[in-house]
Amino acid sequence: MLKKELYLVDESGKRLCVFSVLKGTEGPEVFDIGHLYKETGYFTFDPGFFSTASCRSSITFIDGDKGILRYRGYDIGELAEHSDFLEVAYLLLKGNLPGEEDFALFLHQIKHHSMVHEQLIYFFKGFRRDAHPMAIMVSVVGALSAFYHDSLDINDPKQRVIASHRLIAKMPTISAMAYKYSIGQPFIFPKNSLSYAGNLLHMMFAVPAEEYVVNPVFEKALDKILILHADHEQNASTSTVRLAGSSQANPFACIAAGIASLWGPAHGGANEAVLNMLNEIGHKKNIKNFIEKVKNKKDGVRLMGFGHRVYKNYDPRADVLRKICHEVLKEAKQESNSLFELALELEKIALSDQYFIERNLYPNVDFYSGIILQAMGIPTTMFTVLFSLARTTGWVAQWMEMMEEPDKRISRPRQLYEGTAHRNYKDINNR
Ligand code: ACO
Repeated sequence: MLKKELYLVDESGKRLCVFSVLKGTEGPEVFDIGHLYKETGYFTFDPGFFSTASCRSSITFIDGDKGILRYRGYDIGELAEHSDFLEVAYLLLKGNLPGEEDFALFLHQIKHHSMVHEQLIYFFKGFRRDAHPMAIMVSVVGALSAFYHDSLDINDPKQRVIASHRLIAKMPTISAMAYKYSIGQPFIFPKNSLSYAGNLLHMMFAVPAEEYVVNPVFEKALDKILILHADHEQNASTSTVRLAGSSQANPFACIAAGIASLWGPAHGGANEAVLNMLNEIGHKKNIKNFIEKVKNKKDGVRLMGFGHRVYKNYDPRADVLRKICHEVLKEAKQESNSLFELALELEKIALSDQYFIERNLYPNVDFYSGIILQAMGIPTTMFTVLFSLARTTGWVAQWMEMMEEPDKRISRPRQLYEGTAHRNYKDINNR
């Protein structure tokens, strides 16, 4: 009975419950089922959220069938081409592109929060040098709540704004520190005269003994990569941030939760997994065997960087990244980069294979990003860190949006209990 209203009826046709239809600006219409349990005693069952909208949002729109991704109405390709990361951060946070004056103020606010508390250095020093930088990120970002007590009151809109600026501003510094620690080099202070991406490269690759000049091609490419990763509506990590935030946890703790969720290879860890996979395949002549292994599913091997819960068409971010890949490899004098050639061939073969065609599996954002980052000299373990850095802007925007909702409630999913029914406790001698 799918009309503009959905009815739940009993055997005699009596209406038990009516669900109204909510219509967004774009995208599928939504049945409002919030009152279902109260009126009928039933829950819905949707593990993995295949058919469930968990919130209202005005930030990012995806049409996975058409391969569309928009931030605040702007196509991702257009933003990657014409905008820059901090302008996109402003757009995500505030809803519109800034005028000159507003943008100058925003830049000032972000850039003047780029340093971290000196005491935070001791957190890094407590880690083993071979710790995965994502482990460090989860901990250090969570630890920010122990340092910035004046931006922890989530009910104060000013403090929320300061916390959001701090997070966006400090992520490059913390990310670069995680890298420097892993290679035993001294931490490099941020340089506020540089762009957001340029400053990140500076803090990662400069050393006190040398003059470091940011490569403009790498800077531009990195900036675009950050734009492409800035937000992606209610993915696993963003939903984690919202879920944590719904309990009124402080913003630093919420973003740390998001980083933990992003770390997994089914989500943000996939770009690292793609490079590992390409290295394992090793040569074009091994692609066929690898694809067979993926298809027979016995070994549980997946073609990493392919497939997406929402995109059943080309991921528009992968398209932009393939182009950036050419530019960066040319600049790095790696035009005949064997991993890139391998990836192009792998993509071609997969896209013409029935297994992938039938399941609408296309390259996603992670398929090419690792090759670009590696050509820029960024080590594999830092890939997901850079993803988390970019996504912090989206997480913060989504968290702010949630905190501004008048009727916010703690998120508390229910379950289909399949465990043992009630039984009585038995003394250990009688079991
Ligand atoms: N390689 C091989 N088969 C795949 C792949 C893949 N990469 N992705 C999906 N499939 C197959 C599944 O085996 C399944 O086949 P079946 O219908 O025969 O059972 C079908 O396609 C549907 O797959 P699901 O796992 O149900 O799709 P879901 O939406 O749950 O998963 C995911 C999406 C996790 C991204 C998946 O495609 C995947 O594991 N991809 C590889 C990892 C990856 O690249 N992740 C990055 C995603 S983008 C991001 O998070 C930034």
